Amino acid sequence: MKAEDVKKIAVIGAGDMGHGIAASCLMGGYEVVLRDIDRKFVDKGVARIKDSFDKFKEKGKMTPAAYAETLSRLTSGVDLQAAVQSADFIVEAVPEKLELKKSVFADLDKFAPPQAVLASNTSNISISDIASATSRPEKVIGYHFFNPAILMKLVEVIKGKKTSDESIAIGCDIARKINKIPVVVKKDSPGFIFNRVNEPTGALLSKILEAGRPAPEEFDAAMKPVMPMAPFELIDYVGIDVAVHGLEYFAAVLSGDYKPSEALMDYMKKGNLGKKTGKGFYDWSLGRPKIDLSKATKEYDVTHLIALQVNEATKLLEEDVANSPKEIDLAMVNGSGSPAGPFALAQSIGYPVLLKKLEELHKRFPLDIFKPTKSMMEGSIKI
Ligand SMILES: NC(=O)c1ccc[n+]([C@@H]2O[C@H](COP(=O)([O-])OP(=O)(O)OC[C@H]3O[C@@H](n4cnc5c(N)ncnc54)[C@H](O)[C@@H]3O)[C@@H](O)[C@H]2O)c1
Repeated sequence: MKAEDVKKIAVIGAGDMGHGIAASCLMGGYEVVLRDIDRKFVDKGVARIKDSFDKFKEKGKMTPAAYAETLSRLTSGVDLQAAVQSADFIVEAVPEKLELKKSVFADLDKFAPPQAVLASNTSNISISDIASATSRPEKVIGYHFFNPAILMKLVEVIKGKKTSDESIAIGCDIARKINKIPVVVKKDSPGFIFNRVNEPTGALLSKILEAGRPAPEEFDAAMKPVMPMAPFELIDYVGIDVAVHGLEYFAAVLSGDYKPSEALMDYMKKGNLGKKTGKGFYDWSLGRPKIDLSKATKEYDVTHLIALQVNEATKLLEEDVANSPKEIDLAMVNGSGSPAGPFALAQSIGYPVLLKKLEELHKRFPLDIFKPTKSMMEGSIKI
C-alpha cells in the first residue's frame, strides 16, 4: 500500500489528543471516523472538533463552504469494528497504559483490513511491545503528535523492531498531507527525540531543588528574558506530578540519575502541583506569577540549558536513534515554539563555550547523564 491509497483514517480515542488528530486529518482532506468507548466521549470529541473549526471560520481561515465540506467527512461512533473495517490508516490515542494499548491493537488487527497501517500516539510505550499484540508488526508505527495536535507541527514517526520502511514512508507522507512535519525515529528509544532532549533539564531542576539554591524564582529570573516561559514556571504550568512521572519513567528505563529528588517529591506529597492546584513553586491563585528579574541568579544562565540539550541530542546520533542533526533540530523547533534547534544553537554559540558550561554542571552535580559525550567534546557535529 502507498499513502495515495489511503482514503479513510480511523482515530481511536476522542480525548485531548484524539480529537485534535482527527481534526488535522479532516483538514488534510481525509474521510475520518472517530471512535471512543462511550457515546458521551465521542460527542465531546466531535464538539471539540467543531469548536476548533468554528474558530477558524470566525478568523476567516476556513470558508463556510470548506467548513461544511470538511465536517461532512467526519463520522463517529462506539463500535470499533464498524469504525475500522474500511479504514486504511488507524491512529490510536487511548490512555497511556500498555495492557490497554495491546488489547486495542489486538482488536484493530482483527477488524482492520489486512493492508491497513496501525499507528500509536503513545508518548513513551515501546512500539515493539504494542506491535507484539498483532499479527502484522511490520505495519505498526509510533505516531507521536504534540499537544494541541491541531496546531503543533511535529509528528515523530517511530520504527518498532519489525516495522517496515514502507509503513514509515506511509506515516511520513500522511503527516505531510495533513500539514505536519514528520521526523523519523529510527528505533524505539525512551522519550523518542523531543522528550529525550528535554529531560536532562528536568533532572537539573530536581537537583537544584535538592541543593536548596538558587530558589526557583532566582533561577527562572535568569532564564526568563530569553524564554517565553521559564523552566520552573513551565513545570508549574504543566503540573509537578507530570514532571515527576516523566523523571520516574526515565529513571526506570534510561538512568537512575533521573530519579526525582525528595525536595521535588515534597511538592507532590503536599498536593502542590502547580497551576492546577493554585500553588507549586509559585502562587497561581491570582493568575500567572510575576517573576522579579532583579532576583536573577549569577550561577546559571540559558547556555547551561542549551549545553544539556545539545549533549543529549548528540547521544541520539551516537545511539543511531535519529537520522541527522538537521532532523533533530527540526523536531525540537516544531515540537515547541523554539526559534532554533540545539545543533543550530551549538553552531552559533560554539561547542567550546557549551562544553565549559556542561563541565560546570557536571562538577556541581556529578551525574553520568551530565557527562559530555565524545561528540560534544570533539564539537564536530554540524548541520
Ligand atoms: N495529552 C498530551 O499532551 C499528549 C501528548 C502526546 C501524546 N499523548 C498520548 O496520547 C494518548 C492519549 O492521551 P490523551 O491526553 O488524549 O488522553 P485522554 O484521556 O484525553 O483521552 C483518551 C480517550 O481514550 C478513550 N478510550 C479509553 N479506552 C478506549 C478504547 N478501548 N477505545 C477507544 N477509546 C478509548 C477515553 O474514553 C478518552 O476519551 C496517550 O497515549 C498519551 O500518552 C498525550
